[in-house]
Amino acid sequence: LAVDDGLRTGYHFQPPKHWINACCGIGEANGRDRDPVRADPNGVMYYKGVYHLFYQYNPRGAVWGNIVWAHAVSTDLVDWVMLPPAMYPTAPFDVNGCWSGSANVLPDGTPVIMCRTWRTPRTSPTRTSGSGSSRTTTPVIAPGPGMNATAFRDPTTAWQGPDGLWRLVIGTKNNHRGLAMLYHSRDFKKWAPANRALHSGDTGMWECPDFYPVTSPGVSGGGGGTKNVLKVSLDLTRFEYYTFGEYDHATDTYVPDAALADGNDGLRYDYGNFYASKTFLDTAKQRRILWGWANESDSTADDIRKGWAGVQAVPRKIWLSSDGKQLVQWPLAEIESLRGGLVNITDRLVGAGQHFEVAGLASAAQADVEASFQVADLDKAESFDPAWRGADAQTVCAARGADARGGVGPFGLREERTAVFFRVFKGGDGGKHVVLMCNDPSMSSHADNLYKPTFAGFVDVDIAQTGGKIALRTLIDHSVVESFGAHGKTCILSRVNLLMVQKLNRNHPTPNK
Ligand code: FRU
Repeated sequence: LAVDDGLRTGYHFQPPKHWINACCGIGEANGRDRDPVRADPNGVMYYKGVYHLFYQYNPRGAVWGNIVWAHAVSTDLVDWVMLPPAMYPTAPFDVNGCWSGSANVLPDGTPVIMCRTWRTPRTSPTRTSGSGSSRTTTPVIAPGPGMNATAFRDPTTAWQGPDGLWRLVIGTKNNHRGLAMLYHSRDFKKWAPANRALHSGDTGMWECPDFYPVTSPGVSGGGGGTKNVLKVSLDLTRFEYYTFGEYDHATDTYVPDAALADGNDGLRYDYGNFYASKTFLDTAKQRRILWGWANESDSTADDIRKGWAGVQAVPRKIWLSSDGKQLVQWPLAEIESLRGGLVNITDRLVGAGQHFEVAGLASAAQADVEASFQVADLDKAESFDPAWRGADAQTVCAARGADARGGVGPFGLREERTAVFFRVFKGGDGGKHVVLMCNDPSMSSHADNLYKPTFAGFVDVDIAQTGGKIALRTLIDHSVVESFGAHGKTCILSRVNLLMVQKLNRNHPTPNK
């Protein structure tokens, strides 16, 4: 099992064994904290000094099934203590599992979990409150007449408006239309559907919705730069998309900014392996934190052999960019406490087709790499093929893989199994350069059934304005390669799989160095 253990992460959250997926809540505050108008300093996200992480977990194996809400606690979001499950099936209505949902801490201090159950139409989602022996689970919201109970998913954390009314969103669909259904409650017990959905899009089913305010640090005076984000996970593509815009409590309307699209043409938190994510407001440090789940890229048989499947992405701080055009993410500062053995290289000139090796790392299996590149002559960039206009980044990256020489670059990092790199093209919209960030799991590029396509996202930087400079941070953690381009504007998480390791072993007699 040496190789299997070698893929287990060190600082990306995973339990000792078995299957995890995500999309559960973290101990969430009084819903008023979600309301920028009435931010309540008594709210705790950080409940009684402790962060609580709940996640979807199979206590009996490395495949999805028997789902409970597993529970871990931490005081610093770095080191976690595993606790027994917080919630597990106890009644006929949740016999199929306690599926995704969210947690709130009510103003009286009672923690409440709202989660999805399945198959018994009158009992989804359910509500659990209290702890230990005083815990009670009750069905509270049922899908309305004509609604498909299996497409009634994953209640968000609730928020309370200035009118005192609680609101939450449930993901569903109507034919091909994804819907964020809004529900209201006065007492957090009886919930009723609002008379219209918060938002919808022609994208297929919406699951794991998340709805929360963000503020741009670039806007002075506070408040004015506040928008509300709606994130949904598309079970058709297993990608997540977000919009942000104006939310009005009085009318319960959400209007995304005009430049933003729902679904395939929309913005993503992460252009790699990242799904079923959820944010929470950390009142201890006044920041919003995003957690996402990264599944294995191994076959199910390999997952069973390994005895585990799934990790959490590193917790990321998330905020609205100063130009108000997108969200930006950055690994929590806390993880920098794990750094040691600094290797610092500056002013290295790398010519076309050249590379240099970073020597002196204590272990190449774990590293936190911060790189800053500068392209000497942007005029030499290859031209953006007009045929790519409107194409997604993945299509362009697939057309120009890591080995395809550009006018400048590609340039970036190559971890043994994965290349993370930028491509710069001239001749984009308005005569600007187009910057693409790609992740190429090249060690498996000829692998048959496990071939994982290149991940890619465009990076919204005007590289001519930055003097040709662009930054890249990559967290390497055994089977995770998690990258943040242009200071967190474009993020890509990818996983290393067993097949890549086997290929590497064949090519190099001493792997993992
Ligand atoms: C997301 C999801 C949720 C569901 C949960 C079940 O991956 O499918 O919609 O509630 O996982 O574990």
